[in-house]
Amino acid sequence: MVSTTQDAPLLLRAARGESVDRPPVWMMRQAGRYMKAYRDLREKYPSFRERSEIPEVAIEVSLQPWRAFGPDGVILFSDIVTPMPGMGIDMDIAEGKGPIIHAPLRTQAQIDNLTPLNPDESLPFIKTILKALRQEVGNQATVLGFVGAPWTLAAYAVEGKGSKTYSVIKGMAFSDPTLLHQLLSKFADAIAIYVRYQIDCGAQVVQMFDSWAGQLCPQDYETFALPYQQQVIQQVKETHPDTPFILLVSGSAGVMKQMASSGADTISVDWTVDMAEARAILGPNIGVQGNMDPGVLFGSQNFIRDRIHDTIRKAGNHKHIMNLGHGILPTTPEENAAFFFETVKQYRY
Ligand code: CP3
Repeated sequence: MVSTTQDAPLLLRAARGESVDRPPVWMMRQAGRYMKAYRDLREKYPSFRERSEIPEVAIEVSLQPWRAFGPDGVILFSDIVTPMPGMGIDMDIAEGKGPIIHAPLRTQAQIDNLTPLNPDESLPFIKTILKALRQEVGNQATVLGFVGAPWTLAAYAVEGKGSKTYSVIKGMAFSDPTLLHQLLSKFADAIAIYVRYQIDCGAQVVQMFDSWAGQLCPQDYETFALPYQQQVIQQVKETHPDTPFILLVSGSAGVMKQMASSGADTISVDWTVDMAEARAILGPNIGVQGNMDPGVLFGSQNFIRDRIHDTIRKAGNHKHIMNLGHGILPTTPEENAAFFFETVKQYRY
């Protein structure tokens, strides 16, 4: 069945640039540790891979914020490193630490040995999860898929874990760039396949996280991040031109202009940039998402309301998805998350 504009959900309509009476709202990391329901379920399923790869558990976690707050977007509960085992990269996600890659990729032989991604074989749970989410939320919310971008995935694969300095991958970038370019290109092809798969399984909007590309100076961003974002987006747009594509870079103030040439329909803006300025840099054709500082949710409700209204006014009444500038922090009071959603849902342009 082709969905008409009328019954398409608000977030999808706003992302397409249709006229809406308020911005849609969701929160990055909206399923997670700040919610008691999530912490309770984590006791029963202590491993992140279980929580995100057993379909019934991942569906339940994805729906926890939907039931509690009624956001306009419901995101697949997963991680950016989830497709790695399907490429031959063994990984785990450690409590409080994040992804761990047991044998970091540092040699030509390791990169030659990577296998092309076949999601039906290595990620079959994704189809079950996305189909169930679509079924559950109907046209009341938009189902979002997501992936990591080549630079950010390569950072985990080469460093072997999260990093403060990115010295190993930068060492590779600045001494053996040919090797790193091969890895980035392989990731780009795999990620494009994975995005297409998520869309085919029901994702209505997709977001690509290049979380650590803001660690590059603009010149290096143009060499090691931007071309591979473009490679992914071009491949996806060839087959799925109508699915809105959101791009996030954390700490993006210095590369906002370059992000506009990624091919993404919407740019997720963090709080290092004023929203009005981001709009001015990106121009009227590119949508914006964000950009409230997640730290604001530790403030008083009056302060939170003022910042929400300020952000919405600065973004203007067109192609804006209200969100935080990055993920909600694990110690955020749950009632302030609820207040965030309610306040945006009551707003009218
Ligand atoms: O419900 C949703 O909003 C989906 C949530 C989501 C997770 N990972 C779940 C998760 C999303 C969008 C991701 C993507 C992701 N994973 C990114 C990009 C987003 C960003 O923050 O820039 C990155 C960089 C990762 C890598 C990663 N995975 C990190 C840094 C961590 C956190 C480590 C920690 O414990 O602080 C993870 C683990 C992870 N992924 C958690 C969650 C909820 C925390 C683990 C837990 O709850 O047990």
